Amino acid sequence: MPIDFYAEAEKLFPYTLKLRRDFHMHPELGFEEVRTAGIVAGELNELGIEVTTGVGKTGVVGIIEGRAPGPVVLLRFDMDALPIHEETGAAYASQTPGVMHACGHDGHTAVGLSVAKILHKHRDQFSGTAKLVFQPAEEGLGGAREMVKDGVLTNPKPDFSIGMHVWNDQLVGKIAATAGPMMAASEMFSVTISGKGAHGASPHLGKDPILAASQIITALQSVVSRNVDPLETAVISVTAINGGTAFNVIPPEVSLKGTIRTYLPEIREMVLRRVDEIIRGIAESMQCTAEIKIEDVTPAVINDPRLAELINGIRNEILPETEDLSGLRTMGSEDMAYLMDDIPGCYIFVGSKNEEKNLVYGHHHPKFDFDEQALMQGVALVSASAVAVLNGAVE
Ligand code: NI
Repeated sequence: MPIDFYAEAEKLFPYTLKLRRDFHMHPELGFEEVRTAGIVAGELNELGIEVTTGVGKTGVVGIIEGRAPGPVVLLRFDMDALPIHEETGAAYASQTPGVMHACGHDGHTAVGLSVAKILHKHRDQFSGTAKLVFQPAEEGLGGAREMVKDGVLTNPKPDFSIGMHVWNDQLVGKIAATAGPMMAASEMFSVTISGKGAHGASPHLGKDPILAASQIITALQSVVSRNVDPLETAVISVTAINGGTAFNVIPPEVSLKGTIRTYLPEIREMVLRRVDEIIRGIAESMQCTAEIKIEDVTPAVINDPRLAELINGIRNEILPETEDLSGLRTMGSEDMAYLMDDIPGCYIFVGSKNEEKNLVYGHHHPKFDFDEQALMQGVALVSASAVAVLNGAVE
């Protein structure tokens, strides 16, 4: 008998909710998810699933073997919270001052454990291996990279990977599995512009790094408008500028920080090159020098078109009340990209905003909360997609 994934997710919904709200009340920052990881490992152990803990510091991996050898599908769920003081006033609000699940990763962990239950129960109905990955420290701390270093992409090596995120930018009931680029590659840069300090009344005796920095900031905006193909996209944002303390002193140094977001590798390379040229060129022409540090944060999340098509078809079949929002892309970034590098993968946005319930605040806002219906949809869609892939729906 085919598995009724919607009915299974619905039946498990009280379990999903209970877990989500418990995680929400007890949020933990990246690489500190000790309690969360303990619950994850405990729940998986109770099912009799093979569990490895301490993968990428606080990460947990569970392996579910199907009835026969076959493909390996990695399913990824992140677990970390943010250093934000919660202001939702929810009954299940954070009990830890200054720490909050303001991105929905509490929900993702609950979805992961619910998916584990469904896959474990129906393990005689698929071939291959489901590798459930509970990842720490997604919020800019490099949790996925740590898990990769600890061998999460080996033994067994995944053939496919699937991940999901509740998405408060979109209404609950709208689901996106966009083929191709979906989230951007992210770089952070920091620049120190050095000149020569002087009295504010004698600028001719100094080399003003503030004037150089101002021109650099303005000129950086020409990269996207003049160098990037207008039909492609990129973002350069200068997000910090620091220099000087007194009204009558030209400081010797100014520092800048910012982020660069791109989809395509060739655009990324060109943007990085132009950023470097502009900063150095202007600094030099203004008699200053520039020290530039550019660090890559994550590659782009690029969905495999075959997987995206499969998942959209499954969504239509098992969640007919939902709307296909494929085509949705964002310049946000996600370290899920490391778990999809060289592995065909698909990352899914599950809309979770609900205006009637005033669940309208964006991710990382102190009042962020989402419609938990999205979790049930996530459980049904991720488990159904995993089973389809394990049964050879994508060659
Ligand atoms: Ni997130």
